[in-house]
Amino acid sequence: MKISTLKKIIKSIKGLIALCPEISDFAERHFYGGTYLSQVEFHLVDHCNLNCACCNHFTPVTPEYFFSIEDIVSDFKKLKKIFDNIGKIFILGGEPLLHPDLTELFEPLRKIYPKSEIVIITNGILLEKMEENFWSALKKYNIALSMTKYPIKVDYEKFIQKCDMLGIKSYFFNASRFRMKKMNLDPEGKSDKNCAFNKCHEKKCHFLRDSKLYVCTAIPNIPFLNRHFGLNFEITKRDYIDLDKIKSATRINAIFKLPVDFCRYCNVGEDEFVDYSVSKKELGEWVRAEK
Ligand SMILES: C[S@@+](CC[C@H](N)C(=O)[O-])C[C@H]1O[C@@H](n2cnc3c(N)ncnc32)[C@H](O)[C@@H]1O
Ligand code: SF4
Ligand code: SF4
Repeated sequence: MKISTLKKIIKSIKGLIALCPEISDFAERHFYGGTYLSQVEFHLVDHCNLNCACCNHFTPVTPEYFFSIEDIVSDFKKLKKIFDNIGKIFILGGEPLLHPDLTELFEPLRKIYPKSEIVIITNGILLEKMEENFWSALKKYNIALSMTKYPIKVDYEKFIQKCDMLGIKSYFFNASRFRMKKMNLDPEGKSDKNCAFNKCHEKKCHFLRDSKLYVCTAIPNIPFLNRHFGLNFEITKRDYIDLDKIKSATRINAIFKLPVDFCRYCNVGEDEFVDYSVSKKELGEWVRAEK
């Protein structure tokens, strides 16, 4: 066979793969080590025991809600049918340590994704009260403890030392001087969504909630802001992936490379940071001031 003919065949195979996500998934699975999602995060609870101004999960205005461990495991089983591997899995909230059955999640999650870097992110307030089984489960299932160092009375260094002693991976999620980024959402939705998406640092923080996968954290949690302030940030069908309907890793990763409708609400200007403070539950913590 002539080289030019071979090249044509390869080109048409590549074209076919690009056209059909399922073929691409097949190729990933059988020739490239499996389908892959870089990162996913989820809430164990929606609420928190701290009240940080500008929290980008809108937690200060979020009612108490505990997710069922069974539902989370069931969602991860759905995800596993699509993605053979996930790079990083972040267990979040609100404050995840508020969940009374937190440690029950570790074993099934690790079983589903044996190779992932699984990390729990906490404000540290409850670490002093965590029982022995929490620490031993972190070690047993290789879950890392990441602490956000807030200007509050928590001896964070002590828990880093405890983790070192127990052989648990631990680190600080933030640098020493803590600043919060204001989201400056535009309730009128007049931002250029391509521009917002291109400059966005949150677009890799894919979020799993109720069998739906979102490109970022803002979208699944926006109903809390809407409810508290009587706003109308809209979530459209193009803003999320329903895991019961879309089951191709290639398709999902392609969707995540492009802006979604919700990006029209996001900040396109300079990023604005503020020093850490307690939330007064004021609209301006999340929404852009009128010009
Ligand atoms: C939403 S919190 C959930 C976990 C836990 N409550 C905590 O604070 O560590 C996850 C991370 O997002 C960070 N974060 C939340 N809102 C932020 C903002 N507006 N700017 C910068 N970081 C933010 C928090 O400081 C924390 O490190
Ligand atoms: S940043 Fe973390 S600790 Fe602060 S309010 Fe949000 S969820 Fe709670
Ligand atoms: S909606 Fe778009 S621009 Fe806004 S945070 Fe999510 S990915 Fe970023």
